[in-house]
Amino acid sequence: MSWLYRRLVRPVLFTQDAEKIHRRTLRALSRASHSEFVSGMVQNVFGAPPLPIKTLGLDFPNPVGLAAGMDKYAEAVPAWAALGFGFTELGAVTWLAQPGNPEPRLFRAIPDLAIINRMGFNNPGAAAFAEALSHWRQIGRWPNHPVGINLGKSKATPLAQAAEDYANSFKLLLPLLDFFVVNVSSPNTPNLRQLQDKGALDEILAALQAVQSTSGLPAKPVLVKVAPDLSFEALDEILELAGPRRLAGLIATNTTLARPETREDRLRQIYLEAGGLSGAPLRSRSTEVVRHLYRRSEGKLPIIGVGGIFNAADAWEKITAGASLIQIYTSLVYEGPGVVKAIVRGLWERLEERGLRDLSEAVGSDSR
Ligand SMILES: Cc1cc2nc3c(=O)[nH]c(=O)nc-3n(C[C@H](O)[C@H](O)[C@H](O)COP(=O)(O)O)c2cc1C
Repeated sequence: MSWLYRRLVRPVLFTQDAEKIHRRTLRALSRASHSEFVSGMVQNVFGAPPLPIKTLGLDFPNPVGLAAGMDKYAEAVPAWAALGFGFTELGAVTWLAQPGNPEPRLFRAIPDLAIINRMGFNNPGAAAFAEALSHWRQIGRWPNHPVGINLGKSKATPLAQAAEDYANSFKLLLPLLDFFVVNVSSPNTPNLRQLQDKGALDEILAALQAVQSTSGLPAKPVLVKVAPDLSFEALDEILELAGPRRLAGLIATNTTLARPETREDRLRQIYLEAGGLSGAPLRSRSTEVVRHLYRRSEGKLPIIGVGGIFNAADAWEKITAGASLIQIYTSLVYEGPGVVKAIVRGLWERLEERGLRDLSEAVGSDSR
């Protein structure tokens, strides 16, 4: 299936503007999502075998999730489960609706299997997002896997008021979703990454804790997503907040500001574009970050590993480095919709080869 996509479908798709194709694909998935019949057919072709794992207090049918940034408008919420994903992270959403950066803002670096994006949190705002979520519930199409949200800061909100901005979105969306991700690691909102500093992040997490405790709802998992460009010392400072602020886990990593070496002129031009780089060149650094976080937290804090996962070998690398779950974005673009099933099957095989009964036995096995 991946071969067909790579040989026949991808060359046609890649003749067109990256963002235009993204929008068309999401529209098609949105239409498919409205039909139980079509969704069922998609699931028959692309659905993944069960590989259950329990973490974050939730039950995941398999460990492969959709990374943030793909479905920023909650356009195709049921489609991701039909495509085999074990969980979905929607968003990023911000409190205020915003258009994001001017286009073009999405670039393919094809020979390196990478993408550069400077989308800048284009999204409908938390209120409209909540309505979009309610729509899927009302028509009975809510997926039966965990669905979470990536929370960003509105561009118009000054850094000093960031905590309130995150807390507003959190409060509105708390009843509607299973887990929440504080995104302070996107490179595309000016100065956002400064919120990874311990003091600023502590203020945001404290504001979310206050919302949780006055909501009257059972506590929901809150995670922080970190940048691959942070030093290990800075990561350790974030880890120090995990206990006091009851963090459920960390997501490692977001896109990088770094660029790979290249001799190709066309690639060099693309790498001059401002934005975050994702895909194959990010893989090893994000695995290093997962490994560091796993070791430092002595395997006690669940980690979602993301960055450059294209196949089961890449997923296994993240899991054995310490990730309890993994996510993909760029490989869906390059490998097509069969990628989730291929990864889950490959993980199954690896477990069987090693005589492991449960995926959780593999988590961190290469980092102890
Ligand atoms: C176009 C695009 C938009 C993204 N938007 C977000 C976002 O809104 N919030 C976020 O935390 N990460 C965002 N990401 C980062 C991904 O969630 C992921 O962390 C990163 O792409 C690395 O994974 P990958 O190599 O599998 O793509 C985005 C990535 C891309 C390519």
